[in-house]
Amino acid sequence: MIVKLLLDRKREGGELTPEEICALVDAYTRGDVPDYQMASFAMAVCCRGMTAAETHALTDAMQHSGACLTWPGLSADKHSTGGIGDKLSLVIQPLAASCGLSVPSLAGRGLGLTGGTVDKLESIPGYNAGLSLDDFKRVVASCGVSIAAQTADIAPADKKLYALRDVTGTVPSIPLIVGSILSKKLAEGAGTLVFDVKCGAGAFMKTRADACALARALVEGAKAAGRRAAALVTAMDEPLGWTVGNALEVEEAIEVLRGGNVQDARCPSCGQNARHPDDVVELSVELAARMVSLAKGEGLDEARAACRANLANGAAFARFAEMVKLHGGDLDAFLAQRRVEDVSSGRDASPRRPPGRAVAAADGFVASIDAQKVGQAAFELGAGRAQATDAIDPAAGVRLLVTHGDKVSAGQPLAQLHAPTRPERLPAAAQLVHEAIAVSSSAPAPKPLILEVVE
Ligand code: URA
Repeated sequence: MIVKLLLDRKREGGELTPEEICALVDAYTRGDVPDYQMASFAMAVCCRGMTAAETHALTDAMQHSGACLTWPGLSADKHSTGGIGDKLSLVIQPLAASCGLSVPSLAGRGLGLTGGTVDKLESIPGYNAGLSLDDFKRVVASCGVSIAAQTADIAPADKKLYALRDVTGTVPSIPLIVGSILSKKLAEGAGTLVFDVKCGAGAFMKTRADACALARALVEGAKAAGRRAAALVTAMDEPLGWTVGNALEVEEAIEVLRGGNVQDARCPSCGQNARHPDDVVELSVELAARMVSLAKGEGLDEARAACRANLANGAAFARFAEMVKLHGGDLDAFLAQRRVEDVSSGRDASPRRPPGRAVAAADGFVASIDAQKVGQAAFELGAGRAQATDAIDPAAGVRLLVTHGDKVSAGQPLAQLHAPTRPERLPAAAQLVHEAIAVSSSAPAPKPLILEVVE
């Protein structure tokens, strides 16, 4: 293989054969192709794209660069492209397991505004996400679900290529994103894959056209590799749920897993004593139901009903609690810690630390909540990391007290801010949250949560 000739052809918009792509990825993973040539390849793909056959070959080569797992019986996983307040994996994976599926889920630590799924789980004292593949298999066999950190054995070609893309301006390319996401998910081995492709200001994919294109490519790629697959394109202009920040999000996920879907602090703010529809519950049920329905070959309505029942009857929470225990985590200690934090931050909507909140400047309705700005506030407070070596403060973050469409009055608290290790950042973060929550004089139209379904 003469790499320069492959680069010439790709630069001119030509197509590479599966054998050429496989040889290139293998040689790069071994260290026989230097970073500068692979960066040139990635840039040529960014500019020229890839055919479906090329994307499939890239995915296949990266998947087989490391270990490939297999699971007995029915197995499924959900992958999200990530967004602000996206704690859905914490609900969906145990929920799907409670419906009889094996759910092996390898997840990432987050770079950027807020932590990844693994960071969230590590806010539970003792939770060990760094399992060997053998221990990962043992936990799945024992309780049906494990959420563990991506290991070096899975798709090492992607680890190397993603780090290179990150510093060479070559992340935003649909074929490269598909190869990266799918290689890891296919190697993980679940028979059914459901994708949640986030779309909007707080997401990786900013436009609906790009999000739909990525969703279609992920589903096509997964099917081409012999898996059952579907994707939802979902809104990420506003944060998902009430909380943004690692321990706060785990706490919210636990509330949902226990069958709750309302935050007490919110009801007085809108003047209604009603339970509100909750985006975390709605989306969790919808995504988990697709995993169950595809894996078992049963109807979607039946699967939705089973998911709702298992949230209400405690079966999903029991799976979560068992998973946490098998990972060495202490859920009682976590919940006790959270109770202390709630009391000290005044979750009763009359916070005792004035800088740690944002209040409404005028009477009106919550017209929008800018996910990106709330994410930036959480980052300021210590919930995210700019570099892989940065420490996260698990207790840092933002708890929203209002949501889209709520009626508010001037001076009413809109959000609480938690920054135990960086209290000096509270005023700047409060300003960001204040800017994020737009209040208008008339009630806004409701916003759809699910924008597109790709099957
Ligand atoms: N997430 C991934 O895992 N890979 C990408 O290329 C982009 C997002």
